[in-house]
Amino acid sequence: MSEQKYLDILSKLTLDEKLSLLSGKTYWLTQEIDRLGVPSVWMSDGPHGMRKEKQTGGTNIMQESETSTCFPTAVTTASSWDTDLLEQVGATIADEAKALKVTTVLGPGVNIKRSPLCGRNFEYISEDPFLTARLGAAYVHGVQKNGIGVSLKHYCANNEEHIRMSIDSVVDDRALREIYLSAFEHIVKTEQPTTVMCSYNRIYGTYLSDSKKMLTDILRDEWGFKGIVVSDWGAVNDRVEGIKAGLDLEMPGNKGMNNKYIKKALDEGRITIEDVDKLVYRMIKFAFECKANEGEGYDIDFAAHHELAKKAAAQSAVLLKNEGALPLKDYQSVAVIGALADKLRYQGAGSSHINAWKTVSFKKAMENKGQAFTYAPGYTLKGDGYSKKLIAEACEAAKGKEAVLVFIGLTDAFESEGFDRKHMDMPASHAVLVEELSKVNDNIIVVLSCGSPITIGDWEKKTKAILNMYLPGQAGGEAAYDLIYGKTNPSGKLAETFPLSNDDNLVSAYFPMGPRTVEYRESIYVGYRYFDKAGKAVKYPFGHGLSYTSFEYSDLKLSKNEITEGDTLTLSFKVKNTGTVAGAEVAQVYVVNPESKIYKAEKELKGFKKVFLEAKEEKTVEITLDEKAFSFYNVLISDWHAESGSYGLLVGSSSKDIRLEGAVSVNTAKPDAPVPDYSESAPCYYNMESTTFVTDDEFRAVLGREIPDNSEFVKGNLTINSSVSQVAVSPFGKALCKILCNGAKVVALTAENPDMITESIKDMPLRSFSGFTGGLLSPTTVEGILDLCNGTKGGFKKLISGFRK
Ligand code: BGC
Repeated sequence: MSEQKYLDILSKLTLDEKLSLLSGKTYWLTQEIDRLGVPSVWMSDGPHGMRKEKQTGGTNIMQESETSTCFPTAVTTASSWDTDLLEQVGATIADEAKALKVTTVLGPGVNIKRSPLCGRNFEYISEDPFLTARLGAAYVHGVQKNGIGVSLKHYCANNEEHIRMSIDSVVDDRALREIYLSAFEHIVKTEQPTTVMCSYNRIYGTYLSDSKKMLTDILRDEWGFKGIVVSDWGAVNDRVEGIKAGLDLEMPGNKGMNNKYIKKALDEGRITIEDVDKLVYRMIKFAFECKANEGEGYDIDFAAHHELAKKAAAQSAVLLKNEGALPLKDYQSVAVIGALADKLRYQGAGSSHINAWKTVSFKKAMENKGQAFTYAPGYTLKGDGYSKKLIAEACEAAKGKEAVLVFIGLTDAFESEGFDRKHMDMPASHAVLVEELSKVNDNIIVVLSCGSPITIGDWEKKTKAILNMYLPGQAGGEAAYDLIYGKTNPSGKLAETFPLSNDDNLVSAYFPMGPRTVEYRESIYVGYRYFDKAGKAVKYPFGHGLSYTSFEYSDLKLSKNEITEGDTLTLSFKVKNTGTVAGAEVAQVYVVNPESKIYKAEKELKGFKKVFLEAKEEKTVEITLDEKAFSFYNVLISDWHAESGSYGLLVGSSSKDIRLEGAVSVNTAKPDAPVPDYSESAPCYYNMESTTFVTDDEFRAVLGREIPDNSEFVKGNLTINSSVSQVAVSPFGKALCKILCNGAKVVALTAENPDMITESIKDMPLRSFSGFTGGLLSPTTVEGILDLCNGTKGGFKKLISGFRK
């Protein structure tokens, strides 16, 4: 349909019809305008499969969903470092969306893993912006080439779950651009996602849903975004500000609760009808374009999709350690220990939770293959899972076996959307189990299930191999079988660092934070950028992953020795499989920054390629870098800037296993551009080895503004954005918090992950009461509640009058 047709429709809409298009009809549907043929379209989570509610009205987030294929979660597929695989998974998810009549998949999540403790890390790709950008783009490409839209989320700087609906992320502009916006920028520019989802939090003190700077100036004007911006579910703060900012669609639907405020703002001239029309036009276009792709007659080929889920899991698992214990031979006697071998933990909890077509645990996969083994659970899946009896039984089962496979890791209660992890440890019984088993058998092979790094303590010394399956999707058990028995050669590489302990990381001092702000004092030093600069040892470095074969690198050649403005540089080198089995290697290219006035990471990932090689086969690998690979974000010129100088080039098998080295001279424009120098105002950033904290002065210097207030809430200064747990500082708030938390506990009784429900309620700001009750509690009622919490006169009257309205 043409632009003119959309404009015609726009010209015929009444104001009420226009406003109705700017918020959802239900939890998942957009509003239709029948008389003009504007269709209603369905959006569903994402990202690792379809979660489409069964109930056709789409009214409640907790509904059971339709059956679909549960692919491995993002942390897992990210470890494949395989753009083709990500594209294939995306395309297959799009096929399922079509069959389910969903037109937009709510994903991928490209938030950076700032801390290993973020509860939602399993849904995110990496600690590195380059890897996140490339893999995220491949997924988006796959979904969109099959005619289904995506929602690139959560835009942006939404890196902790704690008080996620109101926290203000205080990030310096350079770190924001280089670390947190980079993947969004790349994917918007290269793939033009149909929608971008604005996150719950604030940035520069402003809610993303109200931020013209983020939603229009950067996203549209600078990057050229053409799609619609949808709010995360319940993320709207002030709908009128949102209209000015360019927030097209408020979700979920709340019966047009905010329309009266928009009308008032129009009457008062705070916004114009042109402001509204801009958004309405985009919504009309979006609805027609989605509908045109809805397609008829799609059936899900579940068996084929299951095979792809298995392939994805097998190509993503990371062999962390192997002293020759793996692969196992079919004839070896084996004990399989650990409840996680029987009850596969294959995905995380929260909005991405899939109703999987089928699941195959490792135990089931062994049975299906007719492989003899002895099984013992070793722990329970509740709490710390400790049971003396189960450990004793496990030891008994392990005695005399040629190999003991121990399945341990994080159970559901340990990580989820809605809350952050408190520490990096597994349930206590899991480490004890390994220790005890090692006393009766010295061939201990650990298989991990987790959505983010765990502490790998002394128990590691008692193991011969560790295979990290992460959260491998519905076919995870079969994939583990194939890897363990050598039917597939492991080829995954960590897309994140496994630190020795969480405290080792500078960010641990600033994560999570609250009650009002979270300060990103570490600036650009996230993940390996920090550990490299601080010269600290880690347990397993970024990019690490072993194979059953070995690879040799040789013959690095550069297409040029010097690059100037607009040039690209191609590195070519040979990778040879020197072993006796076929395998795949992920060749990684890091750029080493020269000395500069501004602090920089030692090295940064700027290219990678996964290469499949038969035994003894050799291939030439080519990786091309553009000027951006040598650039930092220069806040003094508000642009990317490649400083002239000699840059090192490292080609390696991990960030710590560098095999080839080269250098290139960069001679680009902007030689006179000023470069920020913080060596006196913020020396800690130049000398991370001795930095254990960042002083206020130093942070203020790189922030370039005052550090926002982060004082505790007290009765009297509570705001509409104070959370349920924060209002408990007043007697009324305390009672309210108690009632709501007890109510949440009751709802949680039947939930997969009770903590997610209870923690989400505690963190919910008062302003969300209206939206989440579908307007049942009017904004006036909520203001009344706030007044009662603050002890302000007239609160009760307001509360009641709100009900009457
Ligand atoms: C999550 C989003 C999700 C949405 C809809 C929100 O709570 O943050 O990632 O897409 O719910 O389920």
